[in-house]
Formats: sequence, C-alpha cells, structure tokens
Amino acid sequence: MQVLLSAEQIQASIDRLAAEIRRRENGRPLTVIAVMTGSVIFLADLIRKLDIPLRVGIIQAKSYAGTHRGALSVNADMLPEIAGRDVLVIDDIFDTGHTLVEVLAFLDGLGPRSIRTAVLVLKRGKQQVELLPDYVGCEIPDVFVVGYGLDYNDAYRNLPFLAALEPQDIEAQAAS
Ligand code: IMP
Ligand code: MG
Repeated sequence: MQVLLSAEQIQASIDRLAAEIRRRENGRPLTVIAVMTGSVIFLADLIRKLDIPLRVGIIQAKSYAGTHRGALSVNADMLPEIAGRDVLVIDDIFDTGHTLVEVLAFLDGLGPRSIRTAVLVLKRGKQQVELLPDYVGCEIPDVFVVGYGLDYNDAYRNLPFLAALEPQDIEAQAAS
C-alpha cells in the first residue's frame, strides 16, 4: 500500500477545515450529520476541533460493493430532528458525488434552515454532479484509497493513514 496522507497530514488538514468552518459558521450551533461508516473517524476528530455548540447525528448511505458502484440506499433511523437547524453533512470522500447529492436531497426534505457539506478528501476529476462540497480537506488523485475510516470490503478502516490500495492488498484481503 502506498501512503497518500500520513496521520499528521490528515490532522493538519482537519485543523484547517475546523478553522474554516468556525469562521464561516460564525459560532452558530450546528447539527453535524456524518455519513456512515466511512466518516466515523473524521467525525470524531473534526468535532473535537470545533469549539462551538453542536449536536451529532448519523445517516448511512451504502453505495459500494468492493471498488465498484452499486445501488445507493439511505438509512436515516438514527437521525436527530433537523427541521429549522443549521446542518453540516460530513463524508469521508467525494468521488462521483452521487452519495452526497442523494443524502442532501433526503435531508433537504426534512426542512433544515441550512445545509452545508464537508469532506475530508476529494478525488480529482471524478465528479459527475453539479454539487461541490463547501469544505474540502485535501484533493487526491483518482486511486482507490483505504484507511482513516475508508474501507475495501469493510477492511482497513482502522489504518491511521490514508493509502492507495494496490493489487497485492486486494489479494491479501481476499485470502483473509
Ligand atoms: P460517490 O458517491 O462516488 O461520491 O462516493 C462516495 C462514497 O463512496 C464514499 O462515501 C465512500 O464510502 C465510497 N468511496 C468512494 N471512493 C472510495 C475509495 O477510494 N475508497 C473507499 N471508499 C470510497
Ligand atoms: Mg461513505
């Protein structure tokens, strides 16, 4: 595996993101909604850098089986009330953009006062939607990445860094 972003580089980009969010949201209370499961670690690190009043909720959007795109399903069973709230949706990675577009359409129907979006990484040149996230931690090339919450068939989420998956990693994972 080739490390693309070290643990230190990830923390530095979260520091920048948090500063930008604090500045732009101007101290208003936020409802932070994390798209599970990939953004679980990003959520934990980001909210500890946001010293503003906030609530946390989660939503699940599953779109990938392995490295290939499958049908998207949204599970909102664990979502708090967001009507009239300022919502910040966070996701691990912005690839084609379809996941975030679907999640936003769903949340929009619940009547929030505002919705903004933050992603830890954006894959360069992959976007298929008009939407761009309001806050982007880092841009990366178009490679399949794992670690820091991101998985390949549910493996590798616990790596503290973000790495590009190589063919031998896929074989190793298949054998485990
Ligand atoms: P999108 O809908 O194409 O933008 O894909 C977003 C979702 O796909 C993310 O929330 C991830 O769960 C997953 N995803 C996209 N690219 C990668 C990757 O390189 N590694 C792991 N998961 C990915
Ligand atoms: Mg995801």
